[in-house]
Amino acid sequence: MPTILVTGGAGFIGANFILLARKLNWANVVNLDKLTYASNLNNLAALRTDNSYHFIQGDINNFELVSYILEKYQPDAVINFAAESHVDRSIFSPQDFIQTNVIGTFQLLEASRFYWQKLSEQQQKEFRFLHISTDEVYGSLTPTAPAFKENTPYSPNSPYAASKASSDHFVRAYYHTYGLPTLTTNCSNNYGPMQFPEKLIPLIILNAINSQPLPIYGDGQNIRDWLYVIDHCQAIYLVLKQGKIGDTYNIGGLNEQTNLTVVKKICAILDELIPIADFSYSSLITFVKDRPGHDRRYAIDCQKISEELGWFPQENFDSGLTKTVQWYLNNPAWVEQVRSRNYQAWLQQNYENR
Ligand code: NAD
Ligand code: TYD
Repeated sequence: MPTILVTGGAGFIGANFILLARKLNWANVVNLDKLTYASNLNNLAALRTDNSYHFIQGDINNFELVSYILEKYQPDAVINFAAESHVDRSIFSPQDFIQTNVIGTFQLLEASRFYWQKLSEQQQKEFRFLHISTDEVYGSLTPTAPAFKENTPYSPNSPYAASKASSDHFVRAYYHTYGLPTLTTNCSNNYGPMQFPEKLIPLIILNAINSQPLPIYGDGQNIRDWLYVIDHCQAIYLVLKQGKIGDTYNIGGLNEQTNLTVVKKICAILDELIPIADFSYSSLITFVKDRPGHDRRYAIDCQKISEELGWFPQENFDSGLTKTVQWYLNNPAWVEQVRSRNYQAWLQQNYENR
C-alpha cells in the first residue's frame, strides 16, 4: 500500500479525506498539521489505534521538519491541504495567509523537490505532489457568464484568493522548471461534517440551534457552487491516481445556490428535525453589512474531470445538507469544544460592527 503525506489533515477537508483513505485502504497516511484554531484532532479520534496512520504536529513552513518526515516515511505522494482558509479572516489578517498559503507551500515544494530528486528513476516517475486549491482564484462571475474552466484567467479578489493563486503558480512553476510531478485541483465551496463554524453552513446551523441571528451578508444573492465534502475527497483520490501530471482539474458540485436559498433550506430542515411551536428558524434571518470585495458568483465547469477521469458529484444537495445538519445535532461535544476556544472572540470581531 502506498504512503501519503497529508498536510492540514486535522482540518475539515483533510480530516474527511484521511478518514476515507483509511476506511477504503487507499494508503498509509502521515498527517502533518500545525493545529491552528481551525483544526480538531477529535476529527481523527477513530484512527487512534490505526497503525497505518501517524500524526505529527508541525508547520509546513518548517523545511527541516518536512525534510525529516519525507526521509523517515518515504511517501509516494504529498497532498497539501494545509492553509488558512477563511476569506473574512484574510480581510482582518492577510499576513497569516501569505505565511502559510504562499511561503508554506513554497517550503513544502522545496522539501519535496529535494526528496524527489534523490528517489530512483522509477520512484520519481510515480511520485505526486497534489495541491488542493480553490475556485476563488478565478475571481467573480456575472450572473450569465460561463462557469470557470481550467484555462479561465486567474483574477483573485480577496487576500485569501490571492494567496491561493500565488501558491498555485508556484506549484505550476515547480512542474515546468524542475519536473516535479505536480497536480492541482481547484474546487468550489465544500460542506459536510466537521467544518469549522466560521463558514456559512455550519455557522448558520449553530446560530439557529442557539436562537442567534442568522447573518446574511449584503442582499443574500451571492452565488456559490456547493459540493459535499466526500465527493471532493473522491475526486482528489481520482486525480492523484489518474490525473495527468502538470495539469489542473476543476471540481464542482453542479449546484449553484444563492446564500439566501442555502440559509432558508437549513431553516426548513431544522423546522422538520427540531420543531418549535409557532416558530420558524427563518425568522432569525438578519441581513448585515456586506463583506468588502464580496465575489458575486462562483461556478465550476467540471467537464474535464468528468470526461477524463469519470468523476461526477454523487450527493444531492438536499440530502447532503440534511446529513450535515444531522451531524451537528448528533455531535454536541464536538460543537461545544469548538465553540469554547477563541471562537467567541472571532464572532465578536467579525459580526459586532456589521
Ligand atoms: P481548514 O481551515 O478547515 O483546515 C486547514 C488545516 O490546515 C487546519 O487543520 C490547520 O491546522 C492546518 N494548517 C494551517 N496552517 C498550517 C501550517 N502552516 N502548517 C501545517 N498545517 C497548517 O481548511 P479546509 O476547509 O479543510 O480546506 C483545506 C484546503 O482546501 C485548503 O487549502 C483550502 O484552500 C482548500 N479548499 C477549501 C474549500 C472549502 O470550501 N472549505 C474549497 C476549495 C478548496
Ligand atoms: P464562506 O462559507 O465564508 O465561504 P467563501 O467566502 O469562501 O465562499 O461564505 C459563503 C458565502 O456566504 C459567501 O458569499 C459569504 C456568505 N456569508 C454570509 O452571508 N454570512 C456569513 O456569516 C458568512 C460566514 C458567509
